[in-house]
Amino acid sequence: MNNFVFQNPTKLIFGRGEIAKLSQELPKDKKIMVTFGGGSVKRNGVYDQVVAALEGFDFVEFWGIEPNPKVETLRKAVEQCKREGVEFLLAVGGGSTLDGTKLIAAAAVVDCDAWELVRNPKLYAGTLPFASVMTLPATGSEMNRGAVISNLSTGEKYSFYNTFPLFSILDPEATFTLPPFQVACGLADTFVHIMEQYLTVTECSPLIDRWAEGVVQTVVEVAPKVRANQHDYDAMATYMLSATMGLNGFVAMGVPQDWATHMIGHEITALTGTTHGQTLVIVLPGVMNVMREQKGDKIVQFGERVWGVREGSKDERIDRTIEATEQFFRSLGLATRLSELSIGEDVVTEIVRRFRERGTLLGENKNIDYRLVETILRQRM
Ligand code: NZQ
Ligand code: ZN
Repeated sequence: MNNFVFQNPTKLIFGRGEIAKLSQELPKDKKIMVTFGGGSVKRNGVYDQVVAALEGFDFVEFWGIEPNPKVETLRKAVEQCKREGVEFLLAVGGGSTLDGTKLIAAAAVVDCDAWELVRNPKLYAGTLPFASVMTLPATGSEMNRGAVISNLSTGEKYSFYNTFPLFSILDPEATFTLPPFQVACGLADTFVHIMEQYLTVTECSPLIDRWAEGVVQTVVEVAPKVRANQHDYDAMATYMLSATMGLNGFVAMGVPQDWATHMIGHEITALTGTTHGQTLVIVLPGVMNVMREQKGDKIVQFGERVWGVREGSKDERIDRTIEATEQFFRSLGLATRLSELSIGEDVVTEIVRRFRERGTLLGENKNIDYRLVETILRQRM
């Protein structure tokens, strides 16, 4: 097991009706900015619950943080925060709203441009405190430091790190109105978050391996229930908690991490606008196949413990495990090939060019270069 430091200070408030607790958790003496996406919260009653809980608080609203939040939009919120003396931020919506808010909170306390802050972590100088009401289980953003920010004018998408949300409120009933495609992408994102932290080496941390397998197995079990009935409270609650547990640091304790699938997926989104979870299920089977020698023992362990693959040679077991994984993604109703989304040669060429130019090396051993990225993508055409 590798050395590690674990500290996750986010207070998780989970369950039916818990949005009302905002009135106890928010600071009464601070000016608050409440941030939103495009309006889903007005259609599912979340907005009304938030406004009711905020009675008597001093707050302003900022609307329009889009999926794959754009720095161009976030700059407007930063400017408003500075102008109106905002002291606390509350994000209400999906991962994009919260990610955007993480950047707004940090950019509001520095003089540099928000995109410079994304590109140069050395400019980070603290943050306004922030919290969330999360309505889409997927990113784990409600209980982690990460944010992923896009730049419309340059067509880039990069990670940014702030501190953790002070608290996050998760009411599974808020998810009842999610479009089925977002649910499929959220289940896929959760699955792949676990894989990024799990699919490396065996015997590094037996406890964390079992923990990660437990979250993945839960996602696999609950997915058909969630897809059959989005008003099944217990199924949605299980899905929601799985998403949080997928990327809040627990399954990363003492183990190496990969993240190649995400890095390649972000480029597909940056160039084509494809939804995050959808990009991941296209890329992951390619990463598993191309890295089968390095990851083989772990793929076999995964296949045996999660898919029940026990027969055959090592290579056959790896093949069957990759097939079962792709089959699960297809059972969510997602495409697993670039061609199904009409993503072609030009996009692959540009992604490979970007990795070559940046010299970025991916994976737990930093040995996936632009040539291997190309092999992975060509296998997924
Ligand atoms: O904008 P509104 O109108 O709110 O609608 C949203 C949006 O159109 C809608 N939605 C959200 N909750 C809803 C709902 N519709 C009906 N009912 C509800 N309860 O869903 C659409 C997608 O929302 P978005 O926030 O974009 O989805 P998600 O939570 O999947 O976030 C995706 C972003 O998170 C980043 C991704 O790269 C992408 O930019 N990620 C963030 C991570 C993190 N912070 O740690 C890690 C992830 O790997 C990921 O990269
Ligand atoms: Zn993700």
